[in-house]
Amino acid sequence: MHRLLVTGGAGFIGSNFVHYALAHTGASITVLDKLTYAGNLASLQGLPEDRFTFVQGDICDSDLVDTLVQDCDVVVHYAAESHNDNSLHDPRPFLDTNIIGTYTLIEAARKHGKRFHHISTDEVYGDLELDDPERFTEATPYNPSSPYSSTKAGSDLLVRAWVRSFGLQATISNCSNNYGPYQHVEKFIPRQITNVIDGIRPKLYGAGENVRDWIHANDHSSAVLTIIEKGEIGQTYLIGADGEKNNKEVVELILKHMGQPADAYDQVIDRPGHDLRYAIDSTRLRTELGWEPKFSNFEAGIEATIAWYRENEAWWRPQKAETEAKYKVQGQ
Ligand code: NAD
Ligand code: DAU
Repeated sequence: MHRLLVTGGAGFIGSNFVHYALAHTGASITVLDKLTYAGNLASLQGLPEDRFTFVQGDICDSDLVDTLVQDCDVVVHYAAESHNDNSLHDPRPFLDTNIIGTYTLIEAARKHGKRFHHISTDEVYGDLELDDPERFTEATPYNPSSPYSSTKAGSDLLVRAWVRSFGLQATISNCSNNYGPYQHVEKFIPRQITNVIDGIRPKLYGAGENVRDWIHANDHSSAVLTIIEKGEIGQTYLIGADGEKNNKEVVELILKHMGQPADAYDQVIDRPGHDLRYAIDSTRLRTELGWEPKFSNFEAGIEATIAWYRENEAWWRPQKAETEAKYKVQGQ
């Protein structure tokens, strides 16, 4: 693994991966990122100049993609439109980036015979009942609910078809909800932390009973590196760290560690089609590839994340007012 092309490396999980991979491997990394509202060059500061290059561009630009893919050994594909709420109000960019962008990348990877790793989400499997004893596995049928998750499901199926029909040297991973530094303030955990910093009450969709399976972004990064190094071509791996929590519990934890009463939040209009519960069974990744998560203490992880947002206000402040104005129009 010498030269990685990381798409979407200026976003939340991509930037965490770039920091992690440069610190834990000898790889050199080129990031290709369009710098949409979700991309932030400030997330890529302080990286070793001899091993890191940034290219601003669109993954749908086939000429640019062809050149960059030709020059790398492995493509790690994070770039996406990633926010469910946005996809409910304007689905088109999700089709362009998540479907056409992925198509553009896999065409270049097959032309140049390059190793490809596709980053995807547990949301492709739809949702589970709260009391369902089963969790998602690699065999769970696809059943996406939102424009976002359906375009991610479509992109996964494109990759699978390119493996089977064209021999693309690809693996896929479907991960649960990530938390950690550099996450945009539109997302649940950073939105509530920065709301409390600003003296705004956290906003819980509906009753807050929806369950997400939280994993620290660094554990996602170590899992992706493991799959790139040891994964079987054509295989899908689910990534999760047994971190199920309902949204109310998460808000209460944030309030506790920010010195607020446990009930100092507002319930707002629910998300249409809101998935009830995600839960990952990552047995294949653990038993076949020997991966284990390291961040098992969610409460400590939330405390560290609160501290990061307190210490890095300059990073998130420019996005905050616009993000909250958008939510206000939606009654959220
Ligand atoms: P993000 O929205 O924070 O970042 C996306 C990045 O992609 C941004 O830097 C943006 O500028 C870039 N981008 C968007 N369109 C582009 C285009 N056309 N060309 C080039 N760059 C473009 O997203 P994230 O939360 O970091 O998610 C990254 C990936 O991980 C996505 O594929 C997402 O589906 C997947 N994923 C996310 C989670 C999660 O909890 N956030 C969990 C599982 C999987
Ligand atoms: O499961 C993986 C997915 O996790 C990724 O594929 C997505 O890219 C990522 O955005 C995330 O999707 P969610 O929709 O689960 O994440 P979000 O942060 O938007 O919301 C988490 C939960 O919190 C969800 O049940 C909705 C709820 N929520 C969200 C916001 C923004 C609230 O209750 N209040 C809020 O203000």
